Amino acid sequence: MSLKVHQPRLECRRMQIDVLADFKKIFVKNMTVGFKTNWNITLTIQIQLLYYCQYFHFRLINIIFERTTYNHQKMEKCIIVAVADNWAIGKNNDLLWHISEDLKYFKKTTMGSPVIMGFMTFKSLGSKPLPKRKNIVISIFPWDDAPSGITIVKSLEEAYQEAEKPDENGQIPEKCFVIGGGYTYKEAMQFSDTLYITHVHVSREDAEVFFPVIDPVVWRTESVSAVHNDPETGYDYQFVIYKRR
Ligand SMILES: NC(=O)c1ccc[n+]([C@@H]2O[C@H](COP(=O)([O-])OP(=O)(O)OC[C@H]3O[C@@H](n4cnc5c(N)ncnc54)[C@H](OP(=O)(O)O)[C@@H]3O)[C@@H](O)[C@H]2O)c1
Repeated sequence: MSLKVHQPRLECRRMQIDVLADFKKIFVKNMTVGFKTNWNITLTIQIQLLYYCQYFHFRLINIIFERTTYNHQKMEKCIIVAVADNWAIGKNNDLLWHISEDLKYFKKTTMGSPVIMGFMTFKSLGSKPLPKRKNIVISIFPWDDAPSGITIVKSLEEAYQEAEKPDENGQIPEKCFVIGGGYTYKEAMQFSDTLYITHVHVSREDAEVFFPVIDPVVWRTESVSAVHNDPETGYDYQFVIYKRR
C-alpha cells in the first residue's frame, strides 16, 4: 500500500482563506490520500484539514475509486548473437558454426519473448517461424505468400511497436530480442538496452557478415560466464551480458 500526501493547490487555499478571513488562528489544508489496492483499484480520499482555536477539524471533500492498470513498464530491447573475436557472425547466409550449447542458450533466453529478424535471417532459418515466440520479420517488399506464424513489418521501428503489443493475456512483453542478422543488428544497436553475446574465441577471416564493435564507453559488462569448450568445433566460448551505461 502506498500513501501519498499532496500539497494543497494554491487557488484552493486562497479561496478558503477568503471565506474564513474573519477567524484568527486558522489554517486550511487540502490533503489527498491515495491507496493502491490489490484489485487494480486506486482509492483517493480528499480531505480538508482546518486548525481553529487549538482544535483540528477534518472535512471530507471527495472519495474517488479508479480502475487502474499498473502495466506501464517499458519493454526491454535486447540483442542476442554469437560473435567471433573478429566480430564475424555469418557467411553464405548461414552461421559460421553450430555450437549446440549456444543454440540451447538462445532458445532458453528468447523463449516466450517476441523475436525480430531481418529477411535474410528468416530465410536462413528455413523460412519457418521459431516456435512459442512472436516472430517479426522486417522486409520492405510486399509478401503475398508469407508463411503463417510471422508478422511482416517494413521497418525496425514498426517491429518494436509490433513486439510491444499486449499478448493474449493483455500483458506487454518484458523483453524483445533482435536475433539477426548483420544489417538488422547494426540498426538495432542504438535502440538496445541489453546485449546477450556469445563470444566465440576464434577469428573467422572467411566471414561475410559482421557484428558492430561493442564500445565499452556505451556498454558495461553485467555478467560473464566461465569459458566453455564445444567438442564438435573445438572452439572456446563465453556467455556475456552487456547493459547500456
Ligand atoms: N551469429 C549469429 O548469432 C547470427 C544470428 C543471426 C544471423 N546471423 C547471420 O547473419 C547473416 C544475415 O545477415 P544480413 O545482414 O545479411 O541480413 P538480415 O539483417 O538478416 O536481413 C537484412 C534484410 O532484412 C530487411 N531489413 C532489415 N532491416 C530493415 C530495415 N530497417 N528496413 C527495411 N528492411 C530491413 C531487408 O530485407 P528486404 O530487402 O526484403 O527489405 C534487408 O535486406 C546470415 O549469415 C546469418 O546466418 C548470424
